[in-house]
Amino acid sequence: MSSAEGKRAASEAVTVARLRAMKEAGQPVACLTAYDYGFAAACERAGVDLLLVGDSLGMVVQGQETTLPVTVDDVVYHTRCVARACRRSLVVADLPFMSHTDVASGLHTAGRLVKEGGARMVKLEGGADQAALVERLAESGIPVCGHLGLKPQRIHKLGGYRVQGRALVDAEAMESDARALEAAGADLIIVECVPAPLARHLSAQLGIPVVGIGAGAGCDGQILVLHDALGVSAQPPRFARDFSDGAGSVQQALAAYVDAVRTGTFPGPEHEFEA
Ligand code: KIV
Repeated sequence: MSSAEGKRAASEAVTVARLRAMKEAGQPVACLTAYDYGFAAACERAGVDLLLVGDSLGMVVQGQETTLPVTVDDVVYHTRCVARACRRSLVVADLPFMSHTDVASGLHTAGRLVKEGGARMVKLEGGADQAALVERLAESGIPVCGHLGLKPQRIHKLGGYRVQGRALVDAEAMESDARALEAAGADLIIVECVPAPLARHLSAQLGIPVVGIGAGAGCDGQILVLHDALGVSAQPPRFARDFSDGAGSVQQALAAYVDAVRTGTFPGPEHEFEA
């Protein structure tokens, strides 16, 4: 690739097709969460490929104990703020807890996130149980990201934020969920807190990109909660790294994150969970 082509590629909007091409080229996708205009603009300048307006906003922005109280209006508002800053980065918005209990409500919520928020993809927690909704969203032209592994919207069932998929039966169920999402038309899957060998296997098996958080270096891309990546969180998870450490500015910390993901130096073995 000539340097002019390289520059053009770096400035092109990240699309579903681009994410696929990055997977095929073995180029890791650098993703972060974002919740407001200023930080989204800084992420965009740093070259972050995908910005997720996650329902983690309930915890890191609103100070709630879980993500469960987050409303569709909350996500629409924060997505709008983030989308105003983004030309290149792909803006993805989360479907909050109980906002997609059936296909009709899920379509309605996703429609709001796209039409009112300006999202270019929606994310939902779940696997085969969400396949009918994913299929209808895909038919409606709305790109979808599935979310497997640790699903924070199920925290009261799980009883804690723990690694998922360690037992063979759970790993097999996760793989079948991932295949169901892909078959239904999902464009991307986030896997959270899963053993590194399982995440590597899923990434190798699926045609769509698999982005990991606490899932090891074998994924097609990485995502962190912005506050964990910038050392703002009081109790960051073990799989996060504070990129502000040694950086001269927030902008440099974000650039260091993108560089570490692209060059495969993050996550390291110390951020992984074993099977
Ligand atoms: O809500 C969120 O920010 C997320 C990420 C942790 C993947 O789901």
